[in-house]
Amino acid sequence: MKDAFPATRLRRLRKSETVRRLVRETAVSLDDLIYPVFVEEGIEKPQPIKSMPGISRIPEKKLAAEIKAIQSEGIRAVMLFGVSHKKDNTGSDSWKSGGLIARMIKRAKDAAPELIVISDTCFCEYTTHGHCGVVEDGLVANDATIANLARQAVTAVAAGADMIAPSSMMDGQVKAIREALDEAGHIEVPIMSYSSKFASAFYSPFRAAAGCDLKGDRNSYQMDPMNGREALRESLIDEAEGADILMVKPALPYLDVLARLRERTLLPLAAYQVSGEYAMIKFAAAAGALDEKRAVRETLGAIKRAGADIILTYFARDIAREGF
Ligand code: PBG
Repeated sequence: MKDAFPATRLRRLRKSETVRRLVRETAVSLDDLIYPVFVEEGIEKPQPIKSMPGISRIPEKKLAAEIKAIQSEGIRAVMLFGVSHKKDNTGSDSWKSGGLIARMIKRAKDAAPELIVISDTCFCEYTTHGHCGVVEDGLVANDATIANLARQAVTAVAAGADMIAPSSMMDGQVKAIREALDEAGHIEVPIMSYSSKFASAFYSPFRAAAGCDLKGDRNSYQMDPMNGREALRESLIDEAEGADILMVKPALPYLDVLARLRERTLLPLAAYQVSGEYAMIKFAAAAGALDEKRAVRETLGAIKRAGADIILTYFARDIAREGF
């Protein structure tokens, strides 16, 4: 038998770091990473987020300097999240031409034209109730919400966004956004769909970071964490609607979904290592329970190995500064 000991000894290729590097199957580089940034209007000083050590809400006024620093450290792409002080029932500030989304995108692009600026296209940071769309009779109304998502996407692109990332998990959102962008002449702007987004416990630190006081839960639109096949359907439907990149979110608890999706689509795949995944590693490392750098390396490597081309991670800046 060919694979049998003693003829076969897999340890031969693990002997030295040089050999291990030669046969390494997976690599992670800054080219693959997107760094999420929280931008708050109406504040003077950065606000550290307690549940996400090392991450702060950046004052809108200081965004230009922050973006320049981020780019000079080696980050190639950012995802912007607005922390709104002008919330209402529908999140209308988000599609106004002078609203927070438009302003922060313009500031970021003016500060660093080469940096890829991606707009998270959703409403939870802009609504008083904290839901990702228009609430009617206690439920988020799908079709009214996708019409507003389309408006928000057009506003974001007009302000300079390089990519649109719809994250509200409404049916038909990719189709509605693609049609609206094309109609506005933005045929070249890609859509990275949060196509398989689960109703996850791991978003809690983000909700504090983005200032969304959600009453209730998102179980009527985000996916049931127990479902894998349905996640594939969600993603393949978004592909059919015209998505250019598909995303699985969160990342580590859903590597099975990522790996199965990799087998079924030829599109690039993204995975979002979310706020709770970040917090777990940060707090465990702070408690001395694990080595942060090794844990980051291992989790990002696992996410790539499972099939992601792109990773959204709050660790991107640490990696840019300190290496991987
Ligand atoms: C919705 C959005 C959320 C995240 C990214 N986009 C929050 C949610 O769905 O509740 C979570 C990201 C994270 O936890 O890091 N705008």
